[in-house]
Amino acid sequence: MIQTELFKRLGSELPVIQTAMGWVATPQLVAASTNAGAFGFLALATSSKQEALSAIDETLALTNKPFGVNFHMFQPGAAEIVDYVIQKKIRAVSYSRSPVAEYILKLKNAGVICIPTVGEVKHAIKAESLGADALVIQGSEGGGHTGSTPTSLLLSEVLKSVKLPVVAAGGFRDGFGLAAAIAWGASGIAMGTRFMMTKESPVPDATKEAYLACDTSQIRVTKKFDGLPHRLIFNEYISALDKASSPKIFIQALISSWKYKQLSNASFRDILKSFFGMLKGDELTIAQTMMAANSPIIIQKAMVEGVPSKGAMPSGQVAGLIKDLPSCVELIEQIRSEFNEASRKFKENLHES
Ligand SMILES: Cc1cc2nc3c(=O)[nH]c(=O)nc-3n(C[C@H](O)[C@H](O)[C@H](O)COP(=O)(O)O)c2cc1C
Repeated sequence: MIQTELFKRLGSELPVIQTAMGWVATPQLVAASTNAGAFGFLALATSSKQEALSAIDETLALTNKPFGVNFHMFQPGAAEIVDYVIQKKIRAVSYSRSPVAEYILKLKNAGVICIPTVGEVKHAIKAESLGADALVIQGSEGGGHTGSTPTSLLLSEVLKSVKLPVVAAGGFRDGFGLAAAIAWGASGIAMGTRFMMTKESPVPDATKEAYLACDTSQIRVTKKFDGLPHRLIFNEYISALDKASSPKIFIQALISSWKYKQLSNASFRDILKSFFGMLKGDELTIAQTMMAANSPIIIQKAMVEGVPSKGAMPSGQVAGLIKDLPSCVELIEQIRSEFNEASRKFKENLHES
């Protein structure tokens, strides 16, 4: 039995979270990871209100086990998502930038476990003061938007600074990492990239192949993609963008924002509201700000349409070490046996010395 207090409350068999990933952590993947024994988070931050509510219903139809939802508290429809989470008795929510105290209080009063993700100590302290029940800390190795402190350093810094249970994310892929995180004082691990690279992940095969083929040196951070530090695979598209001038980025962003408007049927006002909310507090050039509106289209090119060379592939550095696509059941079994092997090695090594 590999279990911790926090995950007993969450109701999963293993202290492992499958994190939210836009267009990846779909009902299909969340049900697969949750049914296999992890705690899955459904990614709703890129969904319209109606899409979000339907995705919750779809996941409820695919699993009887508890799961969580991830959304931005500033996104259009956030208030309705909060109400629906409470109505459907969803076990937990995760969020990151611009948390809203009123929503957190409402969710907590209804018994929903609030687990924000943070990338800096000051954000961990703020999240605790706003009422979080636990934290996921994401170190700089992690995929998608990421901070600059490596997981091992951020974890020990946050553990010293807050009283909440802390789950470690950024660079994990196996049971050895789980054992190390728990030895460090974490309540479990959270993994994005590893779950994205599974059989049940909805990412098209051509894109999964591109992830399998890359090494850690090709997975780097740029601010040129959407104005925030974003860890991505440096493919043809991102490498060119990283070298591009601001005016060139601005023109491309304008064209793509128009495409995005058509694609999602969202009103231009909603798009503006959403990305200005997202960027609150960050200093950005106009070109970078426009790129925030541009990014969904480019991510979908790789992650939904299956054209990896022309799209953006958010990725943890750990993808460079992952060379297989197991099912979620196989992955969880492997984590269990590696954890036991790590515990055995720990005792043996101590004994030898
Ligand atoms: C493909 C991909 C998409 C992601 N999308 C989101 C997202 O929409 N919202 C979010 O909060 N985090 C997102 N992330 C970050 C993950 O939720 C998670 O924190 C991160 O992947 C952990 O690091 P790891 O990749 O080393 O496991 C994404 C990560 C990846 C790899």
